[in-house]
Amino acid sequence: MNLSEPQVTLASKTRSGTSAHFSGGDFSRCWDERLSRYRRAIEDLSVEIADPLQLSASERHALATRICDTNMAVYRCRHPETVSRVAVRALASQLGLGAPDRNLCAADDGLSELEVNHNPTHQRYIPYSNRALNWHTDGYYHTPQRTIRALALHCVRPAMSGGTLQAIDHEIVFGLLHRCDPRYTAALSQSGTMTIPENKAAGSGVRASVSGPVFFHDGDVLRMRYSARKRNIIWKSDPIVGEAVAALEEILNSCADLVVTRRLLPGEGLICSNVPHRRSGFTDPSQPGCARLIYRGRYIQALARVTSR
Ligand SMILES: [Fe+2]
Repeated sequence: MNLSEPQVTLASKTRSGTSAHFSGGDFSRCWDERLSRYRRAIEDLSVEIADPLQLSASERHALATRICDTNMAVYRCRHPETVSRVAVRALASQLGLGAPDRNLCAADDGLSELEVNHNPTHQRYIPYSNRALNWHTDGYYHTPQRTIRALALHCVRPAMSGGTLQAIDHEIVFGLLHRCDPRYTAALSQSGTMTIPENKAAGSGVRASVSGPVFFHDGDVLRMRYSARKRNIIWKSDPIVGEAVAALEEILNSCADLVVTRRLLPGEGLICSNVPHRRSGFTDPSQPGCARLIYRGRYIQALARVTSR
């Protein structure tokens, strides 16, 4: 790869050359290469950005290749104090994303401000507290029409302590689980494996029950919807599904060498294909205006993929 004269070609629905193979008999042939590429890439996941409003070709290429290898990238803005909400949206749009999906707690521009918030609307949701968030993908309770394909987390201010983010490529999780027992990935790819029951306290009315697989293909791209929470998740009553869920949990909690761990600093962010992630609990400083603040953008659109390596 030549970063000085990158041949950047981006397309949002282009074959990644990885996940498509995971569903068929090519698995073992691809797995070792995919895993070692992932291991190498997570050692060098951060890309320094001079101006998020206008990425250079080499910055864009550096981000896109990391996304191709790991389904995520970390960026570090050289001048954190100048990064506005507009700049965060602009950065995402240069990676192929459109406007953020609007949820109940999002601001008018679609970005949510993740901070401790005592507003009654926000208080029901753990992201707006200082509590730990266990492994999940965003919007796992959405209908298929509103699948969250990409996620951006931009740090404005870190906590005084804690608030560490961890993430792992869902394709790697799938591969590890498949290697453990192919019946597990098959079980978690069935429609109706994971059901989120109706939620009568869903703000703007009742949210209907949503049922679907954990792993599914979106075109030729593998995606994952998941939550490790024990309440309000109904797993399909099937012994293999039960074993698979336990094995998946074990993988997420034991593969520390494959998990990306970052305590984001001001001006840093994670942009990803809505891979499973979690956050540790945190403590804010007592001074007003200094509390941990993360901008979050959720996107229906997929991140652009590099078509030539
Ligand atoms: Fe999340």
